[in-house]
Amino acid sequence: MKAAIIRSYGAPNVFQVEEFSRPSVGPRDVLIEVHASSVNPVDWKIRSGGQRGAIRYKLPWVLGMDVSGVVAEVGSSVTKFKPGDEVYSSPTHRRSGTYAEWVAIDEDAVALKPKNISHYEAASIPLVGLTAWESLVVKGNLQPGQKVLIQAGSGGVGSIAIQLAKHLGAYVITTCSGRNIELVKSLGADQVIDYTQENFDEVLSDIDLAVDALGGESMFKARKVLKRGGRLAMLRAALPENTKRFGPNLGLLITGWQLVTFILSSRLLYGIKASSILRQCSGEFLNQLTNLIEAGQIKPLVDKVFPLDEIAEAHKYSETGRARGKIVIAVKPE
Ligand SMILES: NC(=O)c1ccc[n+]([C@@H]2O[C@H](COP(=O)([O-])OP(=O)(O)OC[C@H]3O[C@@H](n4cnc5c(N)ncnc54)[C@H](OP(=O)(O)O)[C@@H]3O)[C@@H](O)[C@H]2O)c1
Repeated sequence: MKAAIIRSYGAPNVFQVEEFSRPSVGPRDVLIEVHASSVNPVDWKIRSGGQRGAIRYKLPWVLGMDVSGVVAEVGSSVTKFKPGDEVYSSPTHRRSGTYAEWVAIDEDAVALKPKNISHYEAASIPLVGLTAWESLVVKGNLQPGQKVLIQAGSGGVGSIAIQLAKHLGAYVITTCSGRNIELVKSLGADQVIDYTQENFDEVLSDIDLAVDALGGESMFKARKVLKRGGRLAMLRAALPENTKRFGPNLGLLITGWQLVTFILSSRLLYGIKASSILRQCSGEFLNQLTNLIEAGQIKPLVDKVFPLDEIAEAHKYSETGRARGKIVIAVKPE
């Protein structure tokens, strides 16, 4: 099969798009013919070697953690899917590999694709949708009428989180630069802070839940605007920076220590429950997102589509930090 492979960690030019062996299909796996994948920032953090303290791949490896496609084969114990089903999924970090023509994924991480959107649009949803679900529903316990701050509302996670938070009945505040204000309003944001003009921690207070996609200083500012008893969903740890500075093992240890001390001090000094977010690769949660998409409550936001051959360009674009919504990788023609 054709796949985008890395044989070493490094810049986007480490990608080689070439023939690679098809994945084997375990008893619980569905083999998916990939129509589209998408780029998530974690992909280039892994590609550059910044996450290797946490996940050690046996190179060569195929990256990619979003897929929409068609089931071609099912393992002997699979009960939920059959060949021909149109599905989407975000496999676990350990079983990434959607920058390819075929991928095998545990059936529990797979769901039927929403019928009202294309494979290209569906591939933009799973990882960011599951992250938004974990942040707002599972860890955030967001209730109608509560105030939620969603940082980087025009990004992949933010654009879905705004729509999900509105569906949950919250008052949604988000941050972005001036060029994206109209976009985030169209997604449902009630209040927008242009971070190039205002510091959100100087204008906000009494927030119930903050979803922090930026990390670093932003986490410290976010906990200042939360009320006592509030929740903070942290999407971004400093593992890539610490790996660069201290190497993979010490970098991982320091990152863990920073997170633990931040979580403890948030609880003890501010009365805030801070949680580090890791999406659950759950087909059940994806089914709930499918329902919301088919009901028109959540719409995918695709910025650009790159063919698999241009995966390096797609990564370069994601690394600018300016994507509006998602960057999709087209594997089969639409
Ligand atoms: N823990 C997890 O499970 C998990 C899951 C998904 C993502 N993440 C992490 O969460 C972060 C966001 O992911 P993503 O996919 O949403 O990224 P993304 O799509 O690349 O985000 C791009 C967006 O960020 C906005 N942005 C950049 N700097 C900003 C700032 N200072 N304030 C407000 N907005 C800003 C940009 O808007 P402007 O152009 O207007 O600045 C752009 O639209 C990444 O670090 C990612 O690795 C973690």
